[in-house]
Amino acid sequence: MQNWQKAAGGRPASSVVLLSGVSSGFGRAIAMKLAAAGHQVYGISRRELAEVELKRALAGHIRGDLCDPATAKLAVETVLDAQGRLDVLINNAGMGIGGALEDTDDGQLHRLMELNFFAVSRLCRCALPAMRQQGRGTILNISSLGGLVGLPFQGAYSASKYAVEGYSEALRSEVAPFGISVFLVEPGDFRTHFTASRQVVGQDSPYTAYCQRALRRIEADETSGSSPEALAELIARLVGRGGTRFRYTAGSLSQRLLIKSRILMGDRLFLRLLSWYYMGTC
Ligand SMILES: NC(=O)c1ccc[n+]([C@@H]2O[C@H](COP(=O)([O-])OP(=O)(O)OC[C@H]3O[C@@H](n4cnc5c(N)ncnc54)[C@H](OP(=O)(O)O)[C@@H]3O)[C@@H](O)[C@H]2O)c1
Repeated sequence: MQNWQKAAGGRPASSVVLLSGVSSGFGRAIAMKLAAAGHQVYGISRRELAEVELKRALAGHIRGDLCDPATAKLAVETVLDAQGRLDVLINNAGMGIGGALEDTDDGQLHRLMELNFFAVSRLCRCALPAMRQQGRGTILNISSLGGLVGLPFQGAYSASKYAVEGYSEALRSEVAPFGISVFLVEPGDFRTHFTASRQVVGQDSPYTAYCQRALRRIEADETSGSSPEALAELIARLVGRGGTRFRYTAGSLSQRLLIKSRILMGDRLFLRLLSWYYMGTC
């Protein structure tokens, strides 16, 4: 009997998981947590994995750039060849751009959307045929609180995560009849490599003073944020038991409450508060 047949309600006791962005931050923490819980985790990243502990935890590593369409196909095929099934897809790999929207050119925007949005949709498309055939599957898309609010000087990043939000909402309805669940996870600020990897654009522009102030604030919030293990706990619960909701926010209570308060405040007041917080101006 296969592992997945042993669990109650058809949910695999040991899931076969494909996770993008495994080499650092959330991805590394999620992989370690899921592997410790007995799941078979296959990770994708561009970097070779140097850490022995992480390598040991993984059932497999697919090295490749997710901006290359071949990587998604190769990753899903690798998992299916080895395991004959794919239970959970976690779209986690992502990057940020810091800078004014006017200073962000097409090439920078395309690269960001390619990874944060197109690679997500590609991995979903590659994974869905197998999940439909199985009659079950789970897709977890890592969005951001920045996918619920257009953050000044992270506008391109917010746009990419808004795209993931809309895509995931529609996907959830479309695939539900086939026994496939889709969840959105929306983290606030966490301490990961994301801060150092952020591409900063428009070094010398009319926006520079505002941008620098905003980036100082953003970086301070991220570097003093929670550890990625806290998010990995949430993901492990969703993989193990499933979820009752569609959206899961994660991170500091104050950030999550602030996002929820938008409805009470109204857009005008909320966006003024945001401008004041990041730019020191309303
Ligand atoms: N940290 C936060 O505060 C925060 C908040 C909200 C949402 N998020 C989201 O959380 C997710 C994970 O970010 P993180 O904070 O863990 O950042 P991170 O530490 O920088 O990790 C990003 C991961 O994505 C991989 N990656 C980047 N570009 C790639 C590419 N072109 N192809 C394949 N893999 C690629 C990286 O591996 P390689 O470099 O080896 O390829 C790395 O494993 C992202 O979607 C991010 O938007 C983060």
